[in-house]
Amino acid sequence: MKHKFIKGTDNTRTLVLFHGTGGNENDLIPVAQMIDSEANILSLRGNVNENGMNRFFRRIQEGVFDEEDIRYRAREIIEFLETAAEEYGFSLNALAGLGYSNGANIIAAIHYLYGSVFTKSILFHPMVPLKETPASKLQETSIYIGAGENDPIVPLNNTLALEKTLSEMGADVSLHTYKRGHSLTQEEVQDASSWYHQTF
Ligand code: MLT
Repeated sequence: MKHKFIKGTDNTRTLVLFHGTGGNENDLIPVAQMIDSEANILSLRGNVNENGMNRFFRRIQEGVFDEEDIRYRAREIIEFLETAAEEYGFSLNALAGLGYSNGANIIAAIHYLYGSVFTKSILFHPMVPLKETPASKLQETSIYIGAGENDPIVPLNNTLALEKTLSEMGADVSLHTYKRGHSLTQEEVQDASSWYHQTF
């Protein structure tokens, strides 16, 4: 997968970044550096191209996902993480996922399908990725969710349903809602950062 790896001064933690629709591997690097300036950063570019826009999985229309493709892409990412860990010399046991919108959705899908791949995840404006009730357990994962109360792309109820499922899987979920829409705000990044430092 296309990606950028930035070696941190502390090799015990690696943040794995997943951009939103139409973004690329550069987008979330400043956000990740605000949250943890010492950790390694592995920032991925989604392998799916939707009319020139990078994404992490195919969708049939806005908010309606190609679930078979989600499964395929999630597996592809897991395999990529294993190869990257060997190549760059980081541990797979201390990964934090950080994603916005489509990127947050693929992190949620990875948790549904593979459990605690990330011991911490920061999901900015996520929604339910798969209709199935996940079999995986998430006792070893803490999750921050940031959601807009007036998000025109992700209805708040959908994010609340995701929060419920992740909690039922055993994750320690911290939900933060904002009187905003779909965009990622400074306030959200600051809250995610405080949450991150309390939970490591
Ligand atoms: C998605 O397609 O993953 C979500 O609808 C959000 C988006 O990326 O537009």
